[in-house]
Amino acid sequence: MSMELPPDDELELDADGDLAPVSKEKKKARLNKHLSFARKKHINTYNDKQNKKRKKPDITKHNAKEFVDTYVEASKVIDEKVNVITSDVKDFLTEYYPETIEDKKVAWEPFPGPQTQFLSSDEDEVLFSGGRAPGKSDALMMDALRYCGNKDFRGLVIRKAMKDLRDLIKRAKDLYPLCYPGTKWKEQEKLFVFPSGATIEFGYCDHEDDVGQYQGQEYTWLGIDELTQLHLEETYEKLIASVRKSGAGLKNYIRATTNPNGPGKNWVKKRFVDKGGMGKTITISTFIPQLNRTIVTTRKWIHGVVFDNPKIMKERPEYIAMLQNIDNAILRKQWLEGDWDSADGLAFDEFDRKSHVIEPFDIPQEWYRFRACDWGYKTKAVNLWLAVDYDGQVYVYRELVTTNVLAKDFGDKIRQIEDEAGERIRYGILDASAWSQRGENAPPPAEDMGLVWRPSDRGAHSRLTGKLQVHNFLQKDPLTGEPKLKIFNTCTDLIGCLTSLPISDTNPEDVNTKVDDHSYDALRYGLMSRPRMNNNYNFYNQQSEQPVVYNTSFGY
Ligand SMILES: Nc1ncnc2c1ncn2[C@@H]1O[C@H](COP(=O)(O)OP(=O)(O)O)[C@@H](O)[C@H]1O
Ligand SMILES: [Mg+2]
Repeated sequence: MSMELPPDDELELDADGDLAPVSKEKKKARLNKHLSFARKKHINTYNDKQNKKRKKPDITKHNAKEFVDTYVEASKVIDEKVNVITSDVKDFLTEYYPETIEDKKVAWEPFPGPQTQFLSSDEDEVLFSGGRAPGKSDALMMDALRYCGNKDFRGLVIRKAMKDLRDLIKRAKDLYPLCYPGTKWKEQEKLFVFPSGATIEFGYCDHEDDVGQYQGQEYTWLGIDELTQLHLEETYEKLIASVRKSGAGLKNYIRATTNPNGPGKNWVKKRFVDKGGMGKTITISTFIPQLNRTIVTTRKWIHGVVFDNPKIMKERPEYIAMLQNIDNAILRKQWLEGDWDSADGLAFDEFDRKSHVIEPFDIPQEWYRFRACDWGYKTKAVNLWLAVDYDGQVYVYRELVTTNVLAKDFGDKIRQIEDEAGERIRYGILDASAWSQRGENAPPPAEDMGLVWRPSDRGAHSRLTGKLQVHNFLQKDPLTGEPKLKIFNTCTDLIGCLTSLPISDTNPEDVNTKVDDHSYDALRYGLMSRPRMNNNYNFYNQQSEQPVVYNTSFGY
């Protein structure tokens, strides 16, 4: 009885990295090795298997490269050099060499759902957020391990405080040597050294000064557990600057996990959560003038809850009961659901994605449309487009957000968007200060934009009445259960702003204006213009039965 040879067109990478047919000798030698291994180890099961016909891999020119890659990884497993099996290798072995993995015990395998999603992500930066115990920390540590067969791999796992780091190290000491037999832990350097030469270092970052010790180093992979423990985005940026080590077959990755509370909540939320939605690839293009090139990097946000951990569901349901019994509603929400939108001191804590955020739809031509804008050059400029239906229901259906864009270009962009959409915009309302900012010889930005605007109300209590108006629109009607304001899910800046804007420290009736509140301001101006279907202001003729341009000194 003999093992069938794979087809003659089997390919491998030659010394130059090209695909070339595997020589007959090499192929035979490899198969003989596998055969003797199988005979020695699994003689009985092997004999059984002979009764079943072994499948032959179908190699085509499209899957040849992938097949070779999988084959190389599978050979390592067959030769017992590695105990880490990715799902494609597992499928391959199960299909073609089942006897080699039949009696192997699985040391660790990702849970279906967010953990699997996290481990299979290819984006440059990935955040795994969530409530307690979906398996965030385990996923982080095991993600690094996948590359430890490569001698050039240098991983760094960071946790803010040393004492928390110990728990991670303890878990890694259990798992790492199981996956790569022969792995050594060096206590002094807080470093795992793998048989290939790859290393994973464990470090803390309690103070700004601690960053220094990592800055001089180069890493291939960085993982930060509990990211919101870092107060400042700058600390994170300094850490990721050391992820630049290259090596054959290695890409640089940054991975992080977090609970949605902690001092760094706002910047983490803005960087990952507010950018485009769960599980979606976020693309960031950065133009680097010195290189005259645009560099594209990618990010992703993955979210999990305790119900994604089948081990806890099965073995410790009392833990879930404990979470459900937490008295403090906000803490309960954060630990159980990992909810990013619930926090102490939010200005709009009634905001609820399920009712206020909707999938975009085509707005009927007849609906009343207008725009609202908060102008800023160095800070942010935000223009929101709103529509009102026959029942007075308001929809924010588009946003334009820029920084460092001149007023004229911003105005051109707005006009271009409206022209392309063929929309009739009935009026525009703009931050009144856009008339009073003026350069040496330059016209104020409101004029520079070259569009027709009404100035926002700058009256004594306009900020506070404006905030009340936003609350009024967010409030759900007791009869229908629906709010008067709905926002298309494409307006990510506005949604991010409303779900994170804190109450002012000094005036509990206003929002904290020290944070990015530009989208909120634009919305406030828009809603303060009391939008109605039958608004009698004629935008095109610039006249109305009632005088609505109440501050004529603005000149428009
Ligand atoms: N894929 C897995 N297989 C087995 N146990 C797991 C797995 N993922 C997580 N666990 C276990 O579940 C528990 C919670 O996981 P952990 O990573 O600490 O959660 P989190 O960091 O999200 O709070 C831990 O005991 C951990 O070892
Ligand atoms: Mg954890």
